[in-house]
Amino acid sequence: MYRSHTCGELRLSHIGLTVTLSGWVQKSRDLGGMTFLDLRDRYGITQLAFNLEEEKELTEQARKLGREFVVKVEGEVIERSSKNKKIPTGEIEIKVSSLTVLNGSKTPPFTIEDDTDGGEELRAKYRYLDLRRNPVQDKLRLRNKVSLETRKFLDSQNFLDVETPVLIKSTPEGARDFVVPSRMNGGQFYALPQSPQTFKQLLMVSGFDRYYQIVKCFRDEDLRADRQPEFTQIDCEMAFVEQEDILNTFEGMIQHLFREVRKVELDAKFPRMTYVEAMERYGSDKPDIRFGLEFVDMNTVTKNKGFSIFDDAEQVLAINAQDCAGYTRKQLDKLTDWVRRPQIGCKGLVYLKCNEDGTYKSSVDKFYSQNDLAEWAKAAGAKPGDLLLVISGDLEKTRKQMGELRLHMGDELGLRNPNVFKPLWVVDFPLLEWDEESERYHAMHHPFTSPKPEDMHLINTDPGKVRANAYDLAMNGVELGGGSIRIHDREIQSRMFDLLGFTKAEAEAQFGFLMSAFEYGAPPHGGLAFGLDRLVATMGGSESIRDYIAFPKNNSGRDVMIDAPSPLDAEQMKELGIKIQ
Ligand code: AMO
Repeated sequence: MYRSHTCGELRLSHIGLTVTLSGWVQKSRDLGGMTFLDLRDRYGITQLAFNLEEEKELTEQARKLGREFVVKVEGEVIERSSKNKKIPTGEIEIKVSSLTVLNGSKTPPFTIEDDTDGGEELRAKYRYLDLRRNPVQDKLRLRNKVSLETRKFLDSQNFLDVETPVLIKSTPEGARDFVVPSRMNGGQFYALPQSPQTFKQLLMVSGFDRYYQIVKCFRDEDLRADRQPEFTQIDCEMAFVEQEDILNTFEGMIQHLFREVRKVELDAKFPRMTYVEAMERYGSDKPDIRFGLEFVDMNTVTKNKGFSIFDDAEQVLAINAQDCAGYTRKQLDKLTDWVRRPQIGCKGLVYLKCNEDGTYKSSVDKFYSQNDLAEWAKAAGAKPGDLLLVISGDLEKTRKQMGELRLHMGDELGLRNPNVFKPLWVVDFPLLEWDEESERYHAMHHPFTSPKPEDMHLINTDPGKVRANAYDLAMNGVELGGGSIRIHDREIQSRMFDLLGFTKAEAEAQFGFLMSAFEYGAPPHGGLAFGLDRLVATMGGSESIRDYIAFPKNNSGRDVMIDAPSPLDAEQMKELGIKIQ
């Protein structure tokens, strides 16, 4: 027997009991007459005590143990003379009577402590050691709880967990596919699913009514803090539903998860905002509504005063940073440098300080009188003590830039409390978006999204104006999930492919199976998918999803621990009929 108890289990009530424990040596302290070892497992830490006088051989053996040795001990639970109130087992220790080394360990390349001395690269290389640390284990425990509660909730609502294939054909979610060569079908390739989108729709045609799957998806796209090349979706689909049914069902799921896992009661009814409004007020389709700093349109009060940058701009936008008029020259310069970074791309930043004495100070007061500047303040609802930050340029770009600056200011002013959770449904997304590079429309969500019936008349004349029955759930500035009501009519689906520039033959080759299915009684259906990694990271108060994934990839899409991707050997390449150019 390796253990009678775990290292997190023993309390004063166990005093006198003889126990067996197994685990890793966290650290040892040699105090001359006494040697203490901290024994660690997933459940906690228990102190082991060795008395040199009473157990000479055993104590000498214990003194030789290094960090991360795996040992088994037997002994009696005794009360500790100096108690450690910081850990649950801190009132007891084990008076060890036998010690077995189960395995030795090299000195780990970094300390296995909550605050480790290991850098990111090193920890990634030895991820199995990093995963021994409590803060990392806590994140995976949180993930486990979220997926367990997700299953419980969806099961209670009649959703069936159905697995779908991983070796498939391209799914158009807007990223590049990862592809897998087929040995048995020389020269041909499978694509890994960017999502199970078409399969879940087929399951609705098959009459499954409510489907879910916690499923790996694969997208070859540029990586960011909230993007991994392989990630996990809570993927769902429902038949005979309208948008309202879907929003209500998944609002319920998210409320359930926060209640059960975080003990947080979210808004009883999640607020909703149209895409157009979100872009106007926040410059983002996933606005963080934990704080204000909403956009103010400054066009009417800034133009025609001789300042050509504003005069020539399509849009002048401001945000009002309340009580920030005290910003120093240095702070403002730093902000200006921040917006000028290539990732943001502003040419400059104009400010207006609304001084406490009722006067105004601006970086462009050469062009604007005190009266003009008072108009600015009035337009933005600024009071003495406030600071307006103003940028200008093309409408879309300026909104995006201001959206970034808004989040930056939110961080700087401590307005983004990670323990506050503000969900928001963003609805009425455009069906299509124009792509300058390819000079054609792309599906904003994916090609199976249904247009709003009331906008169908615009589909030939002004396709960019057509809204979709599509929705996203945003929380704290993160897109947690998204979905849509689907097209379930072959004719409309076929028109949609036309609009997206697919020839009949291309549409048939890629999605013939789906269009055929639609000829055999497809029910009205719709669904959505949440990003599990993002959901868990948000619940954990983090913007980066990497720590919530046991074995994540780095920013270049590499797993530095197993060293993947890597070249294939010549024999394998030959078998697959592949040559590298
Ligand atoms: P979508 O493409 O919006 O929709 O993806 C759904 C959710 O998946 C998460 N997500 C990601 N998470 C981590 N890394 C990535 N690279 C990544 N890409 C997406 C996001 C996102 O909201 N088939 C549709 C859903 C549907 O229509 O039902 C789909 O995949 O949280």
